[in-house]
Amino acid sequence: SWTTGNVIEEQVTAIREQVGDRRAICGLSGGVDSAVAAALVARAIGDQLTCVYVDHGLMRKGETEQVEKDFVAATGVKLVVVDAEERFLSALKGVSDPEEKRKIIGREFIRVFEQAQAEIIADQGPAVEFLVQGTLYPDVVESGGGTGTANIKSHHNVGGLPEDLEFKLIEPLRKLFKDEVRMVGQELGLPDEIVHRQPFPGPGLGIRIVGEVTKERLDLLREADAIAREELTAAGLDRDIWQCPVVLLADVRSVGVQGDGRTYGHPIVLRPVSSEDAMTADWSRLPYDVLARISTRITNEVRDVNRVVLDVTSKPPGTIEWE
Ligand code: XMP
Repeated sequence: SWTTGNVIEEQVTAIREQVGDRRAICGLSGGVDSAVAAALVARAIGDQLTCVYVDHGLMRKGETEQVEKDFVAATGVKLVVVDAEERFLSALKGVSDPEEKRKIIGREFIRVFEQAQAEIIADQGPAVEFLVQGTLYPDVVESGGGTGTANIKSHHNVGGLPEDLEFKLIEPLRKLFKDEVRMVGQELGLPDEIVHRQPFPGPGLGIRIVGEVTKERLDLLREADAIAREELTAAGLDRDIWQCPVVLLADVRSVGVQGDGRTYGHPIVLRPVSSEDAMTADWSRLPYDVLARISTRITNEVRDVNRVVLDVTSKPPGTIEWE
């Protein structure tokens, strides 16, 4: 029968067998999935695992600092942080197509890992042959892996891998749904702030800007997102909603008025959803006063944003993310 204890025991045995005395690296994204995958592999092979956190410049406000502090404190795992913002932004320059963005981000991730292996991790120890990924069952299904279903989106940790991948993959969460992953994380002793963190996509804010991704737009979206998260937390709604993507419609402008002047700014979309496993979702009926506070603050505090709109679409037909 299914218990978190069984899953952990089974995976630990399998991973030890697979890795032997060789080494593995794991990309930490700040999300639950990669954190639990890393903790599980660390349980199996200890310091034969090195975690790499790629700061691609597409993270939310404060997220990088949080990974550096929380995760290392909880697991004692070896962590290398790579600052790759410039690399990602120049690779994304001029690109607006969602699938193209996902593929570029997935490819650059792997390239940075390979570089990390070559430059940072390759000391006197045995070769790094394995890459740990926090791929979940829904990721596998939605990228068309294994089941023959049509490809809906290229999740960066499945469909976006380059052909010339140099690593063998370890994907210990491949058969699990999100709620099961959280239980496994809890059993492994990860703190609540990590285990109950809302999902955040690997490609980060790169797929929450409809249009080209630039530093300026990212900074703007980071501000709006931080305000929305702050108000949702203050209202005690974090556990009621599954996640709330905040999306910048960078290619759209609308007319507004502020002070005594006409503005011509961008809309921000709030996309709060409730869900069990992200395969289907419904839009969250957030209290109007919370929505009003978020809207007022974003339009007052974020330059170039003069409108806040609410996405009231379920999944299907809409996906959770806009890209
Ligand atoms: P969609 O937009 O497909 O999202 O309804 C379903 C869930 O997956 C997250 N998501 C991703 N997670 N890499 C990830 O690790 C990705 O490329 C990716 N794309 C979407 C999304 O936030 C939602 O929770």
